[in-house]
Amino acid sequence: MTRVVLAYSGGLDTSVAIPYLAERVDAEVIAVAVDVGQRGEQMEAIRRRALSCGAVESEVVDARAEFAANFCVPALQAHALYMDRYPLVSALSRPLIVQHLVAAAAAHGATVVSHGCTGKGNDQARFEVSVAALAPDLSVVAPARDFAWTRDKAIAFAAERGLPIDVSNASPYSMDQNLWGRAVETGFLEDVWNAPTEDLYEYTADPSAQRAADEVVVAFEKGVPVALDGHHVTPYGAILELNRRAGAQGVGRLDMVEDRLVGIKSREIYEAPGAIALIAAHAELEALTVERDLARFKRTVGQRWGELVYDGLWFSPLKHALDAFIADTQQQVTGEIRLSLGGGRAVVTGRRSDASLYDYGLATYDSGDTFDQSLAKGFVELWGMPTRIAARRDQRSA
Ligand code: ARG
Repeated sequence: MTRVVLAYSGGLDTSVAIPYLAERVDAEVIAVAVDVGQRGEQMEAIRRRALSCGAVESEVVDARAEFAANFCVPALQAHALYMDRYPLVSALSRPLIVQHLVAAAAAHGATVVSHGCTGKGNDQARFEVSVAALAPDLSVVAPARDFAWTRDKAIAFAAERGLPIDVSNASPYSMDQNLWGRAVETGFLEDVWNAPTEDLYEYTADPSAQRAADEVVVAFEKGVPVALDGHHVTPYGAILELNRRAGAQGVGRLDMVEDRLVGIKSREIYEAPGAIALIAAHAELEALTVERDLARFKRTVGQRWGELVYDGLWFSPLKHALDAFIADTQQQVTGEIRLSLGGGRAVVTGRRSDASLYDYGLATYDSGDTFDQSLAKGFVELWGMPTRIAARRDQRSA
């Protein structure tokens, strides 16, 4: 009998997918739920729900530390913000989920993997291109897309089969969340003039509420967060703690219209307090420690890196090569950044590093100046020489 490994979230669509795949594809379904730090989810309850929906096996993989170290940290080091804003929350988790699906397929002798994505989003591409990269001979079935489900059909099917899914309080939104942040779409948000309401948010408090600001010192070693306020943390611990502290100050909310890979513009609400605070801190430490030309070039690389990851190309040759470049830039990114968290913003208020390229003597306008200003005269003369020559020519020919 065909065996299918299903990426299981515990929600309506993937729960309905279990009996549906069993009948339609005549398959045994193995449910795999990957814990990437989605807040508030009871993973053991999810595991049992898959079994009551008819899965022959159901497993939960705790991938939180792995997600932090191998997916969030590279995104942090790239300052990966799609369209200059979105920190790639969902895009980062898909390749990791696929790694675990592929491992489960090998362990259980499955030849097919399945996911709950529709045909309108980015996640189908991220899942399937990652499968193609890691296990090119596995085939993929996506019931919500390939059998043209609607939400109503899924609800009707769940009711008909008596699946243990409470559809009465099923959310009108499509949500995805993990350690790096949370995404909310659909429902009344599809009218792009509608303002988001406070009830959409789970990781962040209202940024406009009156409260005292919080101050945190983030220490990095070679671009990896290693301590908060002097206490050693793992990458997972750093992100978790900053989600809490920056989230309490309303940091990291986003409301944007986004260009999807499939060509659709969509309205998305995000909250990513830890990610936004960490990127602000890391970027400032690079400003202090990374040489100018390298920093300029890295900005281009980071942008391209983010686009590749957004577009589902985590496991691709170009992404692999850019990873090596970014890793090389992190050699001197060691030091501490002080952040003030308040009013929805993470603001850098101090920086220090033994690897600093900031030279007080060169920078100061007070006594103790070591910068030889007489050198600047000739430098500027030569710097402007091509422009002057061209300007004279243009005046002549005008
Ligand atoms: N638009 C975002 C992205 O493509 C978020 C997708 C969230 N997924 C979901 N099923 N709601 O990365």
